[in-house]
Amino acid sequence: MQTTSTECRDDFGELRNYTDSKFQDRVERTYREMHTNQTVDFVTQNKRKYSQLAHGKMDVYQVFKLLEQVHDESDPDNDLPQVVHAYQSAESIFEFAMLNNTELRDDLEIKVLFKPTVWEALPKEWRDLYAKHTLKSLYSHITNWSWFPLVGFIHDLGKVMLLPKFGSLKQWAVVGDTYPVAAPFASSNVFYTNGYYTNCPDYKTYNTSSETRFGKYQSNCGFDNVDMTWGHDEYIYEVMQQGSIICPEGLYLLRYHSFYPWHTPQNGVMAYTELASDFDWLMLPLLKAFQKADLYSKTPNLPAQDVLEAKYHKLLDLCIPNKQINW
Ligand SMILES: [Fe+2]
Ligand SMILES: [Fe+2]
Repeated sequence: MQTTSTECRDDFGELRNYTDSKFQDRVERTYREMHTNQTVDFVTQNKRKYSQLAHGKMDVYQVFKLLEQVHDESDPDNDLPQVVHAYQSAESIFEFAMLNNTELRDDLEIKVLFKPTVWEALPKEWRDLYAKHTLKSLYSHITNWSWFPLVGFIHDLGKVMLLPKFGSLKQWAVVGDTYPVAAPFASSNVFYTNGYYTNCPDYKTYNTSSETRFGKYQSNCGFDNVDMTWGHDEYIYEVMQQGSIICPEGLYLLRYHSFYPWHTPQNGVMAYTELASDFDWLMLPLLKAFQKADLYSKTPNLPAQDVLEAKYHKLLDLCIPNKQINW
C-alpha cells in the first residue's frame, strides 16, 4: 500500500499545525463547536447511550472497512483515509517499539519521549522514577505486548460514530483533542486564545479551583473519575472493555490517546495535573510512546493490503476471541 507524506516533522513528531494549515477553516470550526457544545449533560447522555453498545454485533474488520468513508476534520496535517492511518500507527509501533511479536524492545528510554522543557517541569518524584527505567522495565509486569500494535490499529475506530449507522454525530462530538468537562479550561488546549470555551453553558459554573477541588472534581481523583469530552476515545474504550481481553494498560491508551493537553500540550505546559492520580502518572510514559506512533507514522510504504490484513486478523483473534462483538 503506497502512501505519501510531505509534511515536515521534528523528533517529537510535531505536526499539529493549528495556525495556518491548508485545513485551517474546518479545523478551527470543529474546535469552536467542540469548546462551545461539550457540556457535562452532553457527555453524560452520550456515555449512557453508547455504553449500551446497541449498534449491532460486528467484527473489527467490518467496522474497520467503514472507516474508509470517514474523514477527520480536526486534523490539520493530512487528509489521509483513516484506514491508512490505522495501519500506519500499528506498523510504526512494530517498528519503533517491538522487538518481535510479543516483546517490547528493552532500549526504549523514557526521557527522550518528552520535550526537554516538559521533562524538567515534571514532578521530581515521577521524573526520578522515569529516569531510572526503560519503558520495558517500568512496566515489567507486562510480559506479553502483542496488544500494543493492535491498539494502534484500532485506536481510531470510534470515529465511525460519524456514520448514520452509528448515530451521525457531528465532527465536534467525535474527533479532535479531548479534555475534562466541568473543570477550568486549560491554556494548554489548542485554540485556547480564541476563547470559544467561554461560550460553553457550563463555563461559569465550573471555572473554579481550590486546594482540594478542581471544577466539579476532587483533586487527584484520577482521570477514570473525570468526564472527558465525548469522542472516539471513550467509545472505542467502552467497546473493547466489554468485548476484548486487552489488558488495562491497552484500554487506558484507547481511552486517553487524544488527551493532548495532558500528555503532549501545545504550549509545553502539561495541564490537568490537578486531576491526575498516581496511576495516571505511571501510565504517562506509555501514553507518550503511543502518541509518538499515532502522530509520527514514519512508515510511508506499507506492505500490501492482503499482507496487512492477514497480520492484523491474527492479532485481532488473540485479543478479541469472540470476533463478533457489540458496538
Ligand atoms: Fe484518535
Ligand atoms: Fe490516531
